[in-house]
Amino acid sequence: MNAANDRPHLERHGSGYRLVVDGRPFVMLAGEVHNSSASGLAYMEPIWDRAVDLCLNTLIVPLYWELIEPAEGQFDLSLVDGLIAGARAHGLRLVLLWFATWKNATSSYAPAWVKADVGRFPRAQAVPGQDSHAITCCCEEACRADAAAFSVVMQRIGEIDGEEHTVLAMQVENEAGLLGSSRDRCALAEAAFGGPVPEVLTAYLASHHGQLTKVLRGAWVEAGTQSTGSWGEVFGPSADEVFMAWYTARYVDRVAEAGKAAYALPMVANAWLIQNERQVPGQYPSGGPVHTMLDVWRAAAPHIDVLAPDIYLPDFRGVCEAYTRPDNPLFIPEARRDARAASAVLYAVGAHGTLCYAPFGIDDLAIDHPLRESYALLTQMMPVIGELQGEGRTAGLFQQADHEQWVTWLGAYYVRGETTRSLGPERVPGGALILAVGPDEFVLAGRGVDVQFSTMPSAQPDVEFLWLETGSYADGEWVPGRRLNGDETAHGSTVRLRDELTVCRVRLNSAVVPIRHLGRW
Ligand code: DGJ
Repeated sequence: MNAANDRPHLERHGSGYRLVVDGRPFVMLAGEVHNSSASGLAYMEPIWDRAVDLCLNTLIVPLYWELIEPAEGQFDLSLVDGLIAGARAHGLRLVLLWFATWKNATSSYAPAWVKADVGRFPRAQAVPGQDSHAITCCCEEACRADAAAFSVVMQRIGEIDGEEHTVLAMQVENEAGLLGSSRDRCALAEAAFGGPVPEVLTAYLASHHGQLTKVLRGAWVEAGTQSTGSWGEVFGPSADEVFMAWYTARYVDRVAEAGKAAYALPMVANAWLIQNERQVPGQYPSGGPVHTMLDVWRAAAPHIDVLAPDIYLPDFRGVCEAYTRPDNPLFIPEARRDARAASAVLYAVGAHGTLCYAPFGIDDLAIDHPLRESYALLTQMMPVIGELQGEGRTAGLFQQADHEQWVTWLGAYYVRGETTRSLGPERVPGGALILAVGPDEFVLAGRGVDVQFSTMPSAQPDVEFLWLETGSYADGEWVPGRRLNGDETAHGSTVRLRDELTVCRVRLNSAVVPIRHLGRW
């Protein structure tokens, strides 16, 4: 294998994607540190230990343009070196966040020499004539400066990490977009908005017509499915946001491209999500990779490998569904750090093959947080999970309401899950990861759900268990524990994942299917 292929990279596999690290699929069981934690290496010391104690395999930490390039052309890469050394000393991998032109839709992490020079690096204007805290996405000069600094960073990572692969991916910027208005009104943006829609965008929309998000396709079709014209003519009332998405994504793409030219790692762009259906662009950052704008980002940013949601919304499953697409693997760089995390990760891995799961503010996670147990289990199961990723042989369940039922096909079996208890403020919700490890054999890991199998869509299980056992994994190998039967399986029809995290392995008896269920259920 040559060095370029050997680098951490994404691979399409079956119906999904894999992150390949040192020749093996790797799922990041991660956490993101608070924004300022990585600005001091001494401050990071206890955080590395905490990450190890919480069974993380990857830590997500920022790199700050203002500290990396305090004066134009003068670089201080000690944080890059120190963070990589810190991660290695603790056996952890890293995703680095490039806090540069955008951090939560402002330019607060741009160096002072950039912030102070509004002539050279003009600001976006939500209201004409009034500068905002963000540099305009139409500023070539800022894009060039940001890309040049990022390229220096990537060059250094390549030099010191080209062999060891401590750094697995880079996030380019953080929650880009504009707050306060659907469109930037500064002079540069007004001039760009006066120009035509680039034909490369409409050509992309035409060639992906069937796959476009409903909102974007609707806007384009309602305006007449035009291939040329002004932004208003081609996208009607959605013109402002599509314009912002195009220019923001182009900018981020050029930064990513410069970085990849120095050292090619997977590149991620994350999104501050639309918080509810009533919100209009500008109430969330207009132009960011929200789910309605994913196609525009895909067209504009070919060097960005992953568009990633920061998920703080209650509908975790809905967001995961929206961001798992044939052209985009799921990658969750930020999520809530409450008890839900312990089950949400099982769902994200099982239902969507997520490449990364990371609660935000991992520095604050108590050592007895239930996520630790989920991460410890997933670590032990990783060889099996990695092998099945993208094969359509995994499923995931996650409870978001008091009483829920799920159905899904897994291999030749119809799988039906049901919650066993209601939600509670501090309680870990029900959730499970289900793996089809053989034609009639399944591994189930989770809590608070009952699972049944049948051979056809049915409210009643029509197969019996050949055997069912609890157990655990050690380095990918199944270690049997108790054999379950009788009351513990509702007399042979139900795999019960109880309140505590449980792992079961079951073999179904296909020799007698379908059987008629006679018992009570
Ligand atoms: C989302 C941002 O991306 C993070 O950097 C951080 O500011 C969190 N919000 C805080 O909740």
